[in-house]
Amino acid sequence: MLSLRDATLPDRHWIDFVLRHVDPALSVTRTLARIAAIRVETSDIKTFVLRPSKGALAFAAGQSVPVRVTLGGVVYERPYSPISEPGERDLSISVKHHPGGVVSSWLHERAAVGDLVELGEPAGDFVLPPSFPARLLFVAGGSGISAVYAVLRHALRERHEIDATLLYYARRPADFAFADALHALERRHPALRVHLLAQQPDDGTPSAGRLSPAQLDALVPDHLQREVFACGPAPLLDAASAHWSAAGCAARLHRESFAPLPDARDDAAARTVVPVTFRRSARTVDGGGPTLLAIAEAAGLRPATGCRMGICRTCTCTKIAGRVRDRVTGAVDDAPMSRVRLCVSEPLGPVTLDL
Ligand code: FES
Repeated sequence: MLSLRDATLPDRHWIDFVLRHVDPALSVTRTLARIAAIRVETSDIKTFVLRPSKGALAFAAGQSVPVRVTLGGVVYERPYSPISEPGERDLSISVKHHPGGVVSSWLHERAAVGDLVELGEPAGDFVLPPSFPARLLFVAGGSGISAVYAVLRHALRERHEIDATLLYYARRPADFAFADALHALERRHPALRVHLLAQQPDDGTPSAGRLSPAQLDALVPDHLQREVFACGPAPLLDAASAHWSAAGCAARLHRESFAPLPDARDDAAARTVVPVTFRRSARTVDGGGPTLLAIAEAAGLRPATGCRMGICRTCTCTKIAGRVRDRVTGAVDDAPMSRVRLCVSEPLGPVTLDL
């Protein structure tokens, strides 16, 4: 039976339908944002200044914000770390163009000032703790500089004199985004050191080399005493993890990866086929991985997803039983009734999910 409340309050989606005819940027169910400006940072990185219709979006420096675009009737979502400061009205994201990437290609090749995108809920724990240590080390590779730049600026805003070092790796000198801004920060903050480490300099100088114990000892002799925030491609993060783990300091290393995980086609040959049971759906399938999400979708199920790379936690589900490996952290989980992220969990044996 309809209650008075149901009868008198229009459905929120109906309100959206009406609002859309007044202004496509208005919505009571979604956070929409117009592209207010586009800046070229490097040959393959552009910054998009987004103006949310509902005012400033609440997020913490280092978190990522899902950006959704609808192309050909299909909604695509990718997480990006804002480089603008929390509380600012406009939200700025810097996007690296991945040839073949649907969202980054649209943003780089088609998007124009005035276009609308949708923003999701900010998420992620690549953030400074409320009382952070006096000495910090930041490690960034490629587009991982966005999250690192946001956290670094937050640290400097909170403590002007903080002792911080940035190691920023890119292929060529022209590939360093925000280079001028980083050097300006270095001039303003006496205890900040910025090292731009080009792997393939085009001016005849030798390569700065990849992250290694010898390089760390040379550039940051006290690196093992620092709290470390690293974001970049998997080889850089794996090298960092190996070094800090071998030194018994793994807990000091906070890492974030934005590289898309391989999809089902990439490592089909390496996967093991295991039975996966979806308890609520009363289905058991031979899981052909590589992730529980891929197995669920291949079985015709449509669990909620967002980033599909282990960041937003939208796909988190209860694992009733079974042994899985987290493809981001490498952690193996065989505890019953544990919460797992489907998009990055790889079954190592029979698994039962509450799905
Ligand atoms: S979809 Fe975002 S963590 Fe799985």
